[in-house]
Amino acid sequence: MKRLQDYSAAELARFEEAAKEEYKAYQDKGLSLNMARGKPSPEQLDLSDPLYDLTREQVGVKAEDGTDCRNYGLLCGLNETRRLFGEIIGAAPENVIVCGCSSLNIMFDYVSQGCTHGVGGGTPWLFEKDRKMLALVPGYDRHFSVAEYFGFQLVNVPMTPTGPDMDLLEELVKDPSVKGMFCVPKYSNPDGVTFSDETVRRLAAMKTGADDFRVSCDLAYVVHDLYGEASDRLANVFDFARQYGTEDRFIAVASTSKITFAGAGVSAVAASDRNIAEIKKRMTVQIIGHDKINQLKHAYFYHTLKDIRAQMSRHATFLRPKFETVLRVLDEELSGLDIARWSKPKGGYFISLDVTTGSAKYVEELCRNCGVTLTPVGATFPYGKDPDDRNIRLAPSFPSVEEIELAAKIIAASVRLAACRALKNN
Ligand SMILES: Cc1ncc(COP(=O)(O)O)c(C=O)c1O
Repeated sequence: MKRLQDYSAAELARFEEAAKEEYKAYQDKGLSLNMARGKPSPEQLDLSDPLYDLTREQVGVKAEDGTDCRNYGLLCGLNETRRLFGEIIGAAPENVIVCGCSSLNIMFDYVSQGCTHGVGGGTPWLFEKDRKMLALVPGYDRHFSVAEYFGFQLVNVPMTPTGPDMDLLEELVKDPSVKGMFCVPKYSNPDGVTFSDETVRRLAAMKTGADDFRVSCDLAYVVHDLYGEASDRLANVFDFARQYGTEDRFIAVASTSKITFAGAGVSAVAASDRNIAEIKKRMTVQIIGHDKINQLKHAYFYHTLKDIRAQMSRHATFLRPKFETVLRVLDEELSGLDIARWSKPKGGYFISLDVTTGSAKYVEELCRNCGVTLTPVGATFPYGKDPDDRNIRLAPSFPSVEEIELAAKIIAASVRLAACRALKNN
């Protein structure tokens, strides 16, 4: 297929006319479709209803060690849940603290702690007037929001197919005012990239200007594979960190938000002995104990990583056709024209679509006027600003396959129209 930029003026006019007609036909349907919601569908939530329906008789009240889960105690969580998260994250159970329902909450609290009390014996980050964090872009808006909330200046580091641009990152971390970064090393939000072993190694090996530089490894999608054994594999960051003596650099978090119930599951943090001790010291002041009954209920169904993987393959039966529908439509409608690129993730919750530079907002507007809601363009960058106005995050998990097919066709028609406009303007 010929690239759009190689079309003659007459060919381009015909191409644009066809895209306009198609777009108009969709517009006449008066649709209302949403590709912005990165959350499980109702069918996926149904998978965990047995958890919802558990009774006291089934679960009992006691944890493995005899603790009555209805009462205070076990700040770090049930042994069985710590073991499970240890397996999910790849850490020893003693280095895991099981918390409430949200891993984002854990990350927020950790940054907050760094700001007010410092980490690793360092000066409180708030005392650093020019404090910075690295922002892997495109990335997860809530990570950026946490950093922005605490007054960090965000410095963009572009993502590549193997993780962040490590050459640039290694340079930037030499600045002692760069205090940390968030990352989603498996099935990143939004491009679905899994960091290569070499990227993980370099993150552990690199020299940082700040001794209290911290990487929050957000393992939100660590078991969220779409293709079982054929899916991506992530190296264990703590194994590399031990090799380089940088265990204190990493804080890993995960949750069951997209395994069981979003916002009503269980989350956990894993870190080095020293970091766990520091977090525990703060947590002791913050809370007497998290929701152990929910942990007990989760432990009733999920003993090992194998049980979790079985659940995730049930999720994948719903998610796979949705991802494949988007990818098929984009392929049929856009490939070869050289007007868009998109990720083909083997897991996670998103597909990242890059359109012609300067066109993403226009694509969003065209979609909106045709009844398709997209994640606001810019949301995948700090301060809501995509400097190239190029990236669009597609979230196919929630709508039905039929809705996704239609939405993807409208998105593709909009991308074609926007590309025509960009070509004509240049
Ligand atoms: C990368 C990432 N991290 C964290 C979260 C939120 O996780 P939790 O529900 O555990 O707070 C999400 C939710 O979409 C996410 O995409």
